[in-house]
Amino acid sequence: MNILVTGSRGQLGSELQELSVLSDNHHFFFCDLPDLDITSPDRVAALCREHEIEVIINCAAYTAVDKAESDVDAAFRVNRDGAAVLAACARERNALLIHISTDYVFNGKAHLPYRETDPATPLGVYGVSKWEGEEEVRRIAPSYWIIRTSWLYSVYGANFVKTMLRLGAERPTLSVVADQIGTPTWAADLASALVSMVERYDKERFYSATYHYSNEGVCSWYDFAQAIMELAALPCKVMAVESSQYPQIAQRPHYSVLNKSAIKQAWGFDIPHWRQSLAAMLVKLQQKANG
Ligand SMILES: NC(=O)c1ccc[n+]([C@@H]2O[C@H](COP(=O)([O-])OP(=O)(O)OC[C@H]3O[C@@H](n4cnc5c(N)ncnc54)[C@H](OP(=O)(O)O)[C@@H]3O)[C@@H](O)[C@H]2O)c1
Repeated sequence: MNILVTGSRGQLGSELQELSVLSDNHHFFFCDLPDLDITSPDRVAALCREHEIEVIINCAAYTAVDKAESDVDAAFRVNRDGAAVLAACARERNALLIHISTDYVFNGKAHLPYRETDPATPLGVYGVSKWEGEEEVRRIAPSYWIIRTSWLYSVYGANFVKTMLRLGAERPTLSVVADQIGTPTWAADLASALVSMVERYDKERFYSATYHYSNEGVCSWYDFAQAIMELAALPCKVMAVESSQYPQIAQRPHYSVLNKSAIKQAWGFDIPHWRQSLAAMLVKLQQKANG
């Protein structure tokens, strides 16, 4: 199969690039800005035509949650309009669109893990733009999987784990919010789930679906930071604070744990616990640093 991965230099796109070398059966085409802007319909259509693309994995997104509050047009252009462009291209080619979305489509007022069918009531511009992107995919694409994930991190790009490692090495103490609860997701785990789904994609027996995927377990950002310090053997002491003591531009959901029963049942995934994946990521980061 010919597979286009957009936003390929981001965290998830980079993990997919790494995995793709193991796949003999498929041809992957990895594209990112400036070569492929997903908001450019002509460029997207031409590239898909040229490479006879049958599956699009959309990892491109405007992911700066705070910046989106003032850069509203840009966030909607990429997260909603870009998704619509890819969906239209998928329709033209009768291709499968795998679109990545977020736990931030929920308002965080729940007390039980969110199911795919729970109403989306996003709190900020990023969440609204991602939700509207999902809706465009559902409206336009003939075959899609929308996969919502949460708290993504990787050895590639900038993320919470890398920030904590840097600050933990510089400072004796760190304050981290303890009243936002969710689940971290190692992008490498999500990437291998996506590849496994593509491997088993059967056009004849296909049905479109929205799925939730994160690592197993539940924690606060404080728990996550503490685990990072512990596993990286950093002496930095992590202090728990409330969100009100750490004001951020965009409001975040207090609770955004995702219920993963649907994807586990449909695909038989045995998803690793977040601590296990964090440990594996830290080993990989160390190996990368050692060359
Ligand atoms: N990061 C998280 O914590 C998180 C949590 C939940 C869900 N998600 C979702 O997971 C997916 C992957 O996230 P990620 O963390 O891998 O994102 P990322 O690291 O920010 O990567 C996104 C990539 O998309 C590129 N991009 C931006 N605008 C584009 C455009 N118009 N056309 C083509 N490419 C464009 C970015 O390029 P530039 O860097 O040059 O802008 C970047 O390379 C996204 O859909 C995101 O919304 C992420």
